[in-house]
Amino acid sequence: SYFTDFGTNAEMLWGSVDPRPYLTPQSRLFVRNHTRTPQISRTTYALRVFGDGLSTPRTEDDALSFTFADLQRLPHHELTAVLECTGNGRRFFKDQQGQTVSGTGWSLGAVGTVRWNGVRLRDVLTSIGLAPDAVSIQATGLDDPFVSGTTDYGRVRRPFPVGKALDDAILAWGMNGEDLLPDHGYPLRLVLPGWVGIASIKWLGSLEVSRTELTSPWNTTFYRMTGPQWPADSPPLTVNPVRSAWELDRDAVLPSRPVTLTGRSWSGAGRISRVSVSLDGGESWRPAVLDRRSREDEGWTQWSVRWADPRPGRHELLARATDEQGRTQPLVAVFNTQGYFFDAVV
Ligand code: MTE
Repeated sequence: SYFTDFGTNAEMLWGSVDPRPYLTPQSRLFVRNHTRTPQISRTTYALRVFGDGLSTPRTEDDALSFTFADLQRLPHHELTAVLECTGNGRRFFKDQQGQTVSGTGWSLGAVGTVRWNGVRLRDVLTSIGLAPDAVSIQATGLDDPFVSGTTDYGRVRRPFPVGKALDDAILAWGMNGEDLLPDHGYPLRLVLPGWVGIASIKWLGSLEVSRTELTSPWNTTFYRMTGPQWPADSPPLTVNPVRSAWELDRDAVLPSRPVTLTGRSWSGAGRISRVSVSLDGGESWRPAVLDRRSREDEGWTQWSVRWADPRPGRHELLARATDEQGRTQPLVAVFNTQGYFFDAVV
């Protein structure tokens, strides 16, 4: 089996990952939906752009409209990047640290590396014209409003800085050269490379460009650190931390003969510079061989380790990566009530 089924969410099983290809096939990529996948036609689809941050301000009722064909006339752009849920690894708050947190109990499979096909958001915005003091852009999805308990939070939406939009943001219609599947945002989604998965709004319906900071429950209530040790105004989470996974199921059974084990490490802030592994529960560490790093762009690093003398019995395998910014995975993740950013060694 390829996934753990969490209802509207599906987690990739690391033991099902083929160690050879670099990219995650679209059909194997995790799915994270707040409600459910809408069916949207490419022929009637339109992206609406409005706000007082455009050089000619526009109200929502008077939004500019881009059809799919309009977008495809812009220069095409491709980028390889990690897509990862903010809550990836969440279950280990409980399993490893005995802490209770809310949210989907992902192991480490709410992540993938894919090659996005689309256009640069920068090119779309330049073709419209931005006000010089535009600061914030709110992306809103076309899926059903998100209702939790008795609260209707409205459509899934999240603001991000204009700086990110002009840097590397993509409006993607494809993944690995295929059209997006409905579950992954067909016909068009936003992609903010290196940032928490929630920033990459699927089924993108509109962009509001503003001269004042915009907010939504997805940057004030959700996807920021909350809990006793966090200030009430802790900022929205943006850049993903460093994480690592073995290409093994939990409680994998291995032959007691020499074996080469593989895994991957990634960071939202750049390439991986070093991976250490332990085959004895953290008693001793050795460097993994970095087999394939992302030569360009923002993908993950594949690594391997030769285990020459596995003895019969139970063994605990650990992997710990450092990125080029010098960020190393800690041994204990920082508690927060919603279980974000579990970056500790697993
Ligand atoms: N966009 C919309 N419109 N609705 C959603 O529920 N989920 C977000 C993000 N974009 C979501 C969304 C979250 S939390 C994540 S982690 C990613 O989409 C998951 O993308 P995927 O399902 O393509 O893997």
